[in-house]
Amino acid sequence: MRVRSGAQAVRGRTLFYFVIFSERVIHVLEILKGNIVYAPALGTLSTVEKGYLALRDGTIEGLYQDLPAFYKNEPVTDYGDKLIMQSFADMHLHAPQYPMLGMGMDLPLMEWLSTYTFKTEARFKDTDYARRVYRKLAKDLITNGTTRVAMFSSLHTEATWILMEELEKAGVTGYVGKVNMDRGGDTVLQETTVESIRETLRWLEGCHFEHIKPILTPRFTPSCTDELMAALGKMAAEKQLYVQSHLSENTGEIALVKELHPDCQRYYETYAKYGLWKDHTLMAHCVHSDARERKAMREAGVVVVHCADSNVNICSGVCPVRQMLREGIWVTLGSDIAGGALLPMYQVITASIRASKTRRMMDDWQMDFITVAEAYYLGTTSGHKYFGAGDGFAVGDKLHAVVIDDSDFTESTRPLTVAERFERAIYMTQRHNIVAVYSDGRKVVG
Ligand code: GUN
Ligand code: FE
Repeated sequence: MRVRSGAQAVRGRTLFYFVIFSERVIHVLEILKGNIVYAPALGTLSTVEKGYLALRDGTIEGLYQDLPAFYKNEPVTDYGDKLIMQSFADMHLHAPQYPMLGMGMDLPLMEWLSTYTFKTEARFKDTDYARRVYRKLAKDLITNGTTRVAMFSSLHTEATWILMEELEKAGVTGYVGKVNMDRGGDTVLQETTVESIRETLRWLEGCHFEHIKPILTPRFTPSCTDELMAALGKMAAEKQLYVQSHLSENTGEIALVKELHPDCQRYYETYAKYGLWKDHTLMAHCVHSDARERKAMREAGVVVVHCADSNVNICSGVCPVRQMLREGIWVTLGSDIAGGALLPMYQVITASIRASKTRRMMDDWQMDFITVAEAYYLGTTSGHKYFGAGDGFAVGDKLHAVVIDDSDFTESTRPLTVAERFERAIYMTQRHNIVAVYSDGRKVVG
């Protein structure tokens, strides 16, 4: 074994590297060259113009302004003047709502669910239909640069396996949950409590995917009896599984939860009561979470998934994201397909910036809006960290990246910095501008 270490200056910062060479194992080395952009912290954007990303078996080994001499014989993939940026993490979306994308956003949450959503999800009993829709969803995600997801399936076990398989094949990584719902879905979309528990266990038994892992998914309190919630809480503890659900999205929903759980002061307690409010529990929306509920999030390590486009489409409200960030809450972003009508996360990022500006205007201009660099952090690093990644393009992480060709954007009045081009790319990118995608160290597009 040989060991090499050293330091390299990148834009005034010193990066230390430590490389171990094994004599026996053959490693694949690749150097990517281009304009590198990443968000190592909230509000910090790092750029390396015409820089180098060194990969060993898809793992980031170093990030350099000038390529160290010991790499000089290694193969370089030269992306020229293109942008090499962190790929996106969509931390909340509903796969079986993909067929209703861009439709039926004229009703508030509870009516929207019973009028459109449950009927659409019920179609996923048909596994052939599920295969067709999920294959397209997986392709649309990866070609738009979404390489990590936390996703809701429907309550159907077979269709959920199909979804996981299609994501795996396309190169998407992350968590998928078979949805649990044993009340409130009429006859269209509902299991008995016994079925829901039995099918969840059967589904877990059949999850053998490399990059797509199971996550427990009680739809939300109005869809789950106390008995089901208790069983899922027990399962989460015994099998060490993460949990995802919805919280405080809409005032009508909150009033219903209060009726169902008169003993609970706040919505979150209905999850906490059954062991579902814990470290890494993903809670979508949290638009109306008050200071006490937000404190409980911070204390438990619950992760907020902000879904700006959905919140406006179905008139749920405008989430006070700046307040949450000031309080130290872990915030990530989600498309919430199909309450949200935007699948590409670069568009979800701009939607969250617009929502925060709306919130600023609503709050007497007291709260700063979310900047592009901040929103990008929330849509990338903050989500990737849920899966154990480091900050930005961190040494030791598998590469999750998109390569953006912005050469067909309108000619600017003057030469732009890489940071300016990054901002424009977040607002202007379309799918054809994404010329390569790396997911878990593998080139999966391009
Ligand atoms: N709450 C419970 N189910 C759903 C859903 O499918 N979408 C949204 N936005 N909220 C929900
Ligand atoms: Fe949702």
